[in-house]
Amino acid sequence: EIAGPCSLVIFGVTGDLARKKLLPAIYDLANRGLLPPEFALLGFARRDYAHEDFAAVVKDAVVAHARTPFRDEVWDRLAEGIRFVKGTFDDDDAFDRLAAELKQLDTERGTGGNHAFYLAIPPDTFPVVLRQLERSGLSQSGDDRWRRVVIEKPFGHDLDSAEKLNALVNRVFPEETVFRIDHYLGKETVQNILALRFANQLFEPLWNAHYVDHVQITMAEDIGLGGRAGYYDGIGAARDVIQNHLLQLLAITAMEEPVSFSATELHAEKIKVLSATRLAEPLAETTARGQYAAGWQGSEKVVGLLDEQGFSPESRTETFAAITLEIASRRWAGVPFYLRTGKRLGRRVTEIALVFKRAPHLPFDATMTAELGQNALVIRVQPDEGVTVRFGSKVPGPGMEVRDVNMDFSYGEAFTENSPEAYERLILDVLLGVPSLFPVNAEVELSWKILDPALDYWAAHGAPDPYESGGWGPASADAMVRRTGREWRRP
Ligand code: BG6
Repeated sequence: EIAGPCSLVIFGVTGDLARKKLLPAIYDLANRGLLPPEFALLGFARRDYAHEDFAAVVKDAVVAHARTPFRDEVWDRLAEGIRFVKGTFDDDDAFDRLAAELKQLDTERGTGGNHAFYLAIPPDTFPVVLRQLERSGLSQSGDDRWRRVVIEKPFGHDLDSAEKLNALVNRVFPEETVFRIDHYLGKETVQNILALRFANQLFEPLWNAHYVDHVQITMAEDIGLGGRAGYYDGIGAARDVIQNHLLQLLAITAMEEPVSFSATELHAEKIKVLSATRLAEPLAETTARGQYAAGWQGSEKVVGLLDEQGFSPESRTETFAAITLEIASRRWAGVPFYLRTGKRLGRRVTEIALVFKRAPHLPFDATMTAELGQNALVIRVQPDEGVTVRFGSKVPGPGMEVRDVNMDFSYGEAFTENSPEAYERLILDVLLGVPSLFPVNAEVELSWKILDPALDYWAAHGAPDPYESGGWGPASADAMVRRTGREWRRP
């Protein structure tokens, strides 16, 4: 479906997110024919740019980061609708100029007075921008024109601040016009969890406490935090990605079948499962956190967090976090969900693994099954996108030895279509007004409610455990799963 006439206003358009993700995604949408001729893109920032200067910046970003090939005719059409407004957030005149520019674009390009405002800015600047959008009348929708706001995390830093932020946003934009970005939901492999579970008969009968021993959700990154101190110091791994990405993965993996894939029904199921989710206790044993020290990342020698530029040498910010969750429901009673994430780990990989119970009886000589592990279903979110089923198989030969093998589905092999970037899908959905892939207020607040006790506990218990860069996190994270007789997978 092609978006209707509209303009997209980006605040924070000179930032990293805009350059690497948003601007290239807009071009890719245009290139795929998903933007209407009546589309306009407006940048708002402090820089002293003329419209052409800003268009040149957009073009650079597109050439450097777009997924689809550069085509002059697509670019030229898009560039005709690119405008820039210079200003600071506290400058009333700048917002009046923005309103005037949008009005003129409406006349010139026929955007229909429909505007999406993308706040790619630090959350402490939300209040002033929201107030300006209200004051200048820009937030006012009408019968014949829509207004939407797009916000990026962090959605607060705990439950209390998230409630305040949500109240602030909802004072200016009604909840149905608020699009909160969790870019993991824009990933094909994450949406595919719905297809895997609910389009097939093969998996869902096993998807419960009768058969599943435990679930591991891993988001490992090899990158460090050089250059990101301003955002990350004092925030840490749990707030950065567990509160949002990993809890969303958990919700989609653990929820019941929605009545339909409408936003209301999907949100209802996610809210229900998040309401039933809580940290296992005692937190000293069911959580772990770490901070990367120096080490080797492949052939590169890398410094520890405390030596990264901009981080306080006393920083207690965790770059690795692991938690154990329980879900109080018939489906999941007694099944631990282990979540972990970290920077500077052995390699970049995000996966969800359902690890199954052992067969109730093995009619084999014990020596024949010595190398048989537990069956597993692994959803490979990235980078090697696909699904793996691991099970035991007879080793060829005269004996009856059984060993683990993998059965793989790989996107690259199964499909010729290439996956759109997450931001492409999400920006298109904003312009179409389809809210299914955007977490609502209640999900954000429930996620903080789940995580807050761990954050409080960590804040009261000293510094995170150092771990060597290039490894798999602190020993305390291994101890966390070993105490229940389990092991982390080594992806
Ligand atoms: C962001 C986090 O939300 O997700 C970053 O703030 C992280 O710290 C990034 O690196 C990872 O995204 P992806 O899509 O590369 O897995």
